[in-house]
Amino acid sequence: MNITVIGTGYVGLVSGICYAELGNQVICVDKDPRKIDMLNAGGIPIYEPGLQELATANRTKGRLSFTTDLPSAVTQSDIVILAVGTPPLPSGEANLDYIDEAALEIAQAMNGYKIIAVKSTVPVGTNERLGQLIRTRTNHPFDSISLPEFLREGSAIQDTLQPDRIIIGAESESAAATMTALHKPLTDQIVVTDIRSAEMIKYASNAFLATKISFINEIANICEKVGADVTKVAEGMGYDKRIGPSFLKAGIGYGGSCFPKDTSALIQIAGNVDYEFKLLRSVVEVNRDQRFNVIRKLETIFEGDLQGKTVAVWGLAFKPNTDDVRDSPALEIIQHLVDNGVKVKAYDPIAMDNFRALFGKDGVEWCNEAMETARGADALCLLTEWDEFAEVDLGQLQSVLKRPILIDGRNVFNEEHLLGTDFIYYSVGRPSLNQGVKQPMPIL
Ligand SMILES: NC(=O)c1ccc[n+]([C@@H]2O[C@H](COP(=O)([O-])OP(=O)(O)OC[C@H]3O[C@@H](n4cnc5c(N)ncnc54)[C@H](O)[C@@H]3O)[C@@H](O)[C@H]2O)c1
Repeated sequence: MNITVIGTGYVGLVSGICYAELGNQVICVDKDPRKIDMLNAGGIPIYEPGLQELATANRTKGRLSFTTDLPSAVTQSDIVILAVGTPPLPSGEANLDYIDEAALEIAQAMNGYKIIAVKSTVPVGTNERLGQLIRTRTNHPFDSISLPEFLREGSAIQDTLQPDRIIIGAESESAAATMTALHKPLTDQIVVTDIRSAEMIKYASNAFLATKISFINEIANICEKVGADVTKVAEGMGYDKRIGPSFLKAGIGYGGSCFPKDTSALIQIAGNVDYEFKLLRSVVEVNRDQRFNVIRKLETIFEGDLQGKTVAVWGLAFKPNTDDVRDSPALEIIQHLVDNGVKVKAYDPIAMDNFRALFGKDGVEWCNEAMETARGADALCLLTEWDEFAEVDLGQLQSVLKRPILIDGRNVFNEEHLLGTDFIYYSVGRPSLNQGVKQPMPIL
């Protein structure tokens, strides 16, 4: 099939490359000429393991190209897939300006029947509204498809080539059949439904996953007070097939470009039809507070006096294996530390440049290497569970820190790692581990 994918971000680029990998002829379009120049030069503007190799292979086979010329791409394609950003507005609602703009550009370029599919996450009713918008600019026929995306950054290729399911929201049976044929090589789990339900499936899925995370984080907070171990609790819960083990990892809360914005948007979507989504409001509130446990733990250790201390931070991306720092908990944690007179030294294996640009303020020493970051610090906070941090020698780490204080926001280390060290160690929801180290732990 001939496909144009509009938007070469985390979703559009991976999707486009994977559609080419399936043997389709794919043109990836972006309005950002720097991204397209980089792609045409063989580079990849995002960090996603394996993506560069897959892009090169498909370009060599002549199935994949990159351009800023949206009209030319649209005229050469039967299927046009929108994967532009839908970032949050201050109100929490999704900003649909980019998708509206792209839809109008498609309409103006149409030269015959097209399937126009929306992969971007958009509120219920958006596909219908886009359809009306497109009809104001063209008389050519088209079918709208809602094609919500579920890939996870860091494992995006695998998620795209082996998805748990594909959701196709359609009004037209023939367009649904074409989209089913396109995705059939990926999975048998294809759910064809009406457009509004497809749009809702995306928000409901993300809201449910965010709920699981906030739920286990609250359980972790209670575990700290009652002396239970949240990792054991999660393991015990996860064997129950009705619950499942995924997304029961306690930590400093979710971040990234999807969960925060999609939960806020769903609260707004519900609010717009006079429904207060109380459960989801609490999920968001719990998540926002969870990151401050890191600060609270530092304050306990330093008896409320953070002023003048040096705190090292390991991990700035919202999760490992991505350079995405949008809504990363590290942003707010570091900001709070800086505002309270702490000297922050920060390091991330991949996301340094993106974080620095988004943080946009002074007061942080940006470091190039994990041990150098820790050297001379009064405490170390681990905020992203990159493999490189799990593999460090804790004896060496202890020797470079001024004081052996380790706040492990992702439960990376266990009792074995800590054996033979003198760390004052705090993790999330594992009070027995805190007490298991040589230094006596203050009661939380
Ligand atoms: N990132 C994820 O993990 C993920 C997962 C599932 C769904 N989604 C959803 O997918 C959508 C895209 O997310 P993303 O993270 O890939 O966004 P992104 O910000 O990384 O990329 C969006 C791209 O679209 C381009 N763009 C904007 N307007 C354009 C136009 N008119 N013409 C051509 N290009 C244009 C931008 O230049 C940018 O490169 C969002 O709705 C998001 O919620 C994201």
